[in-house]
Amino acid sequence: MRLLVTGAAGFIGSTYVRVVLEERPDDEIVVLDKLTYAGRRENLAEVEDRITFVEGAIEDPQVVREAMEGCDAVVNFAAESHVDRSIAGQDVFAITHVIGTGVLLDAARELGVARYLQVSTDEVYGSITEGSFTEESPLRPSSPYSATKAAGDLLVCAHVHTYGLEAVICRGSNNYGPRQYPEKLIPLMILNALHGDHLPVYGDGRQVRNWLYVEDFARAIDLVLREGRPGEVYNVGGPDEKENIEVVRRIVELVGADESLIEHVRDRPGHDFRYSLRSDKVQALGWRARVRFDEGLERTVQWYRDNAWWWEPIRSGEYREYYERQYGRKLGERQAG
Ligand code: NAD
Ligand code: TYD
Repeated sequence: MRLLVTGAAGFIGSTYVRVVLEERPDDEIVVLDKLTYAGRRENLAEVEDRITFVEGAIEDPQVVREAMEGCDAVVNFAAESHVDRSIAGQDVFAITHVIGTGVLLDAARELGVARYLQVSTDEVYGSITEGSFTEESPLRPSSPYSATKAAGDLLVCAHVHTYGLEAVICRGSNNYGPRQYPEKLIPLMILNALHGDHLPVYGDGRQVRNWLYVEDFARAIDLVLREGRPGEVYNVGGPDEKENIEVVRRIVELVGADESLIEHVRDRPGHDFRYSLRSDKVQALGWRARVRFDEGLERTVQWYRDNAWWWEPIRSGEYREYYERQYGRKLGERQAG
């Protein structure tokens, strides 16, 4: 099988490529990635000689056609993935999630690609105080990130309905693990704790996220690509849900930092309180999460400890400016007093 994997220089896509090549070494993989601030060739270093890498955007029809030619399947990870950045400005989110997804879908249809998988998120359902969303739940996204992801999902459904494209959608809960860009909660807190920086918890920190180890999501995506029913949506939730403050306290403990680093800062506008998914459908295909949160978090902390080469260039680059804009203070700046 020849796969086009878009956005695979990022966190989840690069993990997915490693999982596929481990399980089916004869598969061929073409990666298409725009290499935004979050996309890094280093994420694919271990498999560099086993893939074809194309630098380009999914919203560029010519590049997409060339990369997709001869492929049997497409897995679309390409995205702007951070909610806070979408609150600061939505344009690039709409371009990638809506226009880009549309370009991929058109090309897949025109080239007769047998299978298309859209990687999506639990955030398209919005927040839920109690219980869990199923695949039938209505879409009520609340941030520009999730609203544009939902629009991308609806476009996939339209191509299934109108053109009979054999597409599936996989909606995952919050992922964590090695190689996640440190704008996200877990790697941000790990790196700040390792550096003795403040740990900025939004609001009271009682919001709840459902944590899914990245390799577990990658395996679910691969299963759905192969065994999912065309036109269907599959939710993939993690095995453990936690309040943010609990996660931050556990990171402090694992790193051996001081709890006084925890600082409650201004809440995220429109902050979703809780996400939760039922995963019965993907479980019926035979998927189970293998990594519980305690174990996954330990592994993740250890990975960031052992791989300063990976995050040092990030902490000294564009991320510094982002951090200052987002948190109103310089990265590494000590608290007054
Ligand atoms: P990431 O930000 O780490 O990586 C995104 C990748 O997409 C980067 O390599 C980037 O260069 C590339 N990219 C961005 N815009 C592009 C474009 N227009 N054309 C081509 N490439 C482009 O993101 P991630 O956390 O790995 O997320 C991957 C996918 O999984 C996204 O679709 C996201 O919505 C979804 N998802 C993420 C999570 C999570 O917790 N991170 C949970 C559920 C679903
Ligand atoms: P994040 O990793 O941005 O993922 P998402 O918003 O997609 O769920 O955030 C996870 C949770 O952590 C969310 O409730 C917001 C919160 N959070 C903080 O409290 N402080 C931070 O600095 C960040 C980045 C997130």
